[in-house]
Amino acid sequence: MQLYIDTANLDEIRRARDLGVLDGVTTNPSLIAKEGVDLTRRMEEICALVNGPVSAEVIATDFDGMMREGVRNAGIAPNIVVKLPCTEPGLRACKALSDQGIRTNMTLCFQPLQAWLVAKAGAFLVSPFIGRLDDVGQDGMDLIAQIRRVYDTYGFQTKLLAASIRHPKHMLECLLAGADVATVPYSVIAQLLKHPLTELGLEKFLADHRKAFG
Ligand code: G3P
Repeated sequence: MQLYIDTANLDEIRRARDLGVLDGVTTNPSLIAKEGVDLTRRMEEICALVNGPVSAEVIATDFDGMMREGVRNAGIAPNIVVKLPCTEPGLRACKALSDQGIRTNMTLCFQPLQAWLVAKAGAFLVSPFIGRLDDVGQDGMDLIAQIRRVYDTYGFQTKLLAASIRHPKHMLECLLAGADVATVPYSVIAQLLKHPLTELGLEKFLADHRKAFG
């Protein structure tokens, strides 16, 4: 499973990249707004830091606007992936951009039928939102498992990118369910290596070493 970081913050991207296991970056309008930065400028900065796919989401909600923004964003750097919502205009733009060789990430996916249609339209990535389904009393991981099954049954190449991941348990469940990619905030990446027995074990090793050798 590939690991993307879900942020528009350059320090977090640098820290994740320096771990040596980062495969890409996703952003969304909320994350750009949180940084208070211009999208084009920030995408240039992110693409200078990371070679893997970097998702830049369109703001437009109509087909023509999505196409204009999508083509413009794709021109920022070769590793830009145009992020579009799983709506009717979004599906049409996905097909049109994919036909032009521009990679897309279809976001705000909440049911396997959306994932099926965007795969038919040639999406590079589909982003089912696990945490937000959990928030409304549904099991987000069921969606991951269902999309995996649909894609494997029909041989779709679209990568299943698990998004809206809130904690390490989500990550483990994504690994077990066969997600291709998980995108997570830095706070979750930082938790992945943490285990109290690792900390305690290390303390004991060092204490024993000090006792023996000073
Ligand atoms: O990439 C989408 C993701 O950022 C949404 O996460 O935690 O806002 O549901 P969240």
